[in-house]
Amino acid sequence: MSSSNLKPRTLSAVVLLSGTGTNFSAIAKAIQQDALPIDIRAVLSDRPRAQGLERARALQYPTQTVDASQYPDRATYDQALIKAIDAYAPQLLVLAGYMRILTPAFVAHYSDRIINIHPSLLPSLKGLHTHQRALDARHAEHGCSVHFVSDLLDDGPLVAHAPVPIQPDDTAQTLAARVQAAEHRLYPTVLGWLATGRLQCIHHQLWLDGARLSQPIRLDGLYQSGPSP
Ligand code: GAR
Repeated sequence: MSSSNLKPRTLSAVVLLSGTGTNFSAIAKAIQQDALPIDIRAVLSDRPRAQGLERARALQYPTQTVDASQYPDRATYDQALIKAIDAYAPQLLVLAGYMRILTPAFVAHYSDRIINIHPSLLPSLKGLHTHQRALDARHAEHGCSVHFVSDLLDDGPLVAHAPVPIQPDDTAQTLAARVQAAEHRLYPTVLGWLATGRLQCIHHQLWLDGARLSQPIRLDGLYQSGPSP
C-alpha cells in the first residue's frame, strides 16, 4: 500500500446538489489529488436528473435522489432528506449548488455542520441571478462566498470571500465564468481548512487557527487562470 493510501480521511461529508455539479467536481478533484482530506460518503440531490449526480457516479461515489416533487411540503421533504443523509453519518454537509430553501428544523439538526458556496460577496446579493444583478447595480467587484448555513437564505457565519473585479465589457455570462473559476478554488481551499482542523464553527462562531474570525478572509485572484492553489 502506498503512503498516500494510509493518509487519514479526517472529515466525512455528504454533498447536496441540485444542478450541474461543477463545484462538486472541483472538490472531488482536490480529494483525488490528495490535496483535501475529506471522505465524501455520498452525493444526494433533490432532482433525479441533476448532472452533478452523473458526475458523482462517474467517479464511483454513492448517489441518491430524494425527489422533491414526491413530497407535499418543505417540512416533510426535509425530514426525508435528514433520514437519507443520516444513513451515511457524515460530520459535514457540503451544499454545492443545492437550490432548495432549508427548514429551520433541518438546519438545527446539523447545527454548525452545513457549509455553502454562493455566487456573490455576501451579505451583498443574496438569492438568484447574482451576476446580472451585480452588473445592473454597477458594482466594481463581484465574487463568491463560503459560509456556514443559518436559518435564513444565503446567511450564516462567513468564512471567506473570493472577489472578482467587474470589467466594463462584462456580460452576465463572462462574469459568471470568472466567478465560477473562483468558486472552484475557494471551496476546496476552505474545506481544506476545515478538514485539517484549522477552521471550526462552534455555536455559530468561526475560529481560524485558534483566533475568532470576525470578518471573512479575502482571497484575491482566485478567478485568474492557472493551476489551482
Ligand atoms: C454555484 O454558482 C453556486 O455558488 C450556486 O449554484 C451554483 C452551482 O453550480 N449556489 C447558490 O446560488 C446557492 N445559493 P454547480 O452546480 O456547477 O456547482
